[in-house]
Amino acid sequence: MIEIPSFKIPKEDWVEDKLLYGKKLAVKIREHLKERVEKTKIRPGLAALLVGEDEASKIYVSSKEKAANEIGFHSVVKKLPVDATQEEVLAVVHEWNNDENIHGILVQLPLPKHINSQNILQSINASKDADGFHYANMGRLMAKEKGAIACTPLGIIVMLKELGVNTEGKHALVLGRSNIVGKPMAQLLLDAAQCTVTVCHSKSRNIDEMTASADILVAAMGVRDVIDYSKIKKDAIVIDVGMHRIDGKVKGDLDYKEILDKVSFITPVPGGVGPMTIAMLLYNTYQNAVWLNEKDQMLA
Ligand code: GUN
Repeated sequence: MIEIPSFKIPKEDWVEDKLLYGKKLAVKIREHLKERVEKTKIRPGLAALLVGEDEASKIYVSSKEKAANEIGFHSVVKKLPVDATQEEVLAVVHEWNNDENIHGILVQLPLPKHINSQNILQSINASKDADGFHYANMGRLMAKEKGAIACTPLGIIVMLKELGVNTEGKHALVLGRSNIVGKPMAQLLLDAAQCTVTVCHSKSRNIDEMTASADILVAAMGVRDVIDYSKIKKDAIVIDVGMHRIDGKVKGDLDYKEILDKVSFITPVPGGVGPMTIAMLLYNTYQNAVWLNEKDQMLA
């Protein structure tokens, strides 16, 4: 069975009226993980590799490092220059694959164009995959076996679980079919949330029709304003994965203020789904550490 963590965080700590503040939930989950780490014999270790000078990537990696340190993880960051070779990148992954203090390996994307990204991601030992991008873990998710799950969809399914709504038999519509969000999201909604799932994408012809019957709508197209707001079903739960920088402000795929009246719950952008991704990266690392040490009685 797929294991979806349950943190039992009181709703009043993160749900305000109709707004699902993943940012607040993520803080509580990180505190929860910190407490769990304090009770364990081993210290989960997260290693992150940054290749090149991409500004957004630098910010992401330093937030991940800070978050890992704050909850008592062992944390390592390695930086390689933009002209690093495939072999040099592979050598770093190989070193961490063989380091018993490391349980979560993350290679920050995007990698420079001359690097074969999939070759690097697939060279990570699947039991140390922090992102859930390894094919073995993608396959495990499809087969309902335990393994690391992509952080953004995992964060969303955790939000739905913490919200405590009954999702069984509901119609969930996923807009977007990427390997790292849309597809794993659809799989989780199908198997963990027991929904009837529809996936729409840029070539879909009946998005309005699907939107009108969706009880749960996950917008992950990476394009703004794809759906007709008037078609959104009354009392739907709307999750917005989009992140767009417009006139210096961060916005989602949707304009949540436009649909607030209609929905039962919605994630704002910023402050909704985004912060849950880092919390799930930490969770995956913790979980890998538990699985890797299962025989050694992790709990003190
Ligand atoms: N770049 C942007 N988001 C991510 C992520 O979640 N994981 C990795 N490895 N790279 C990213």
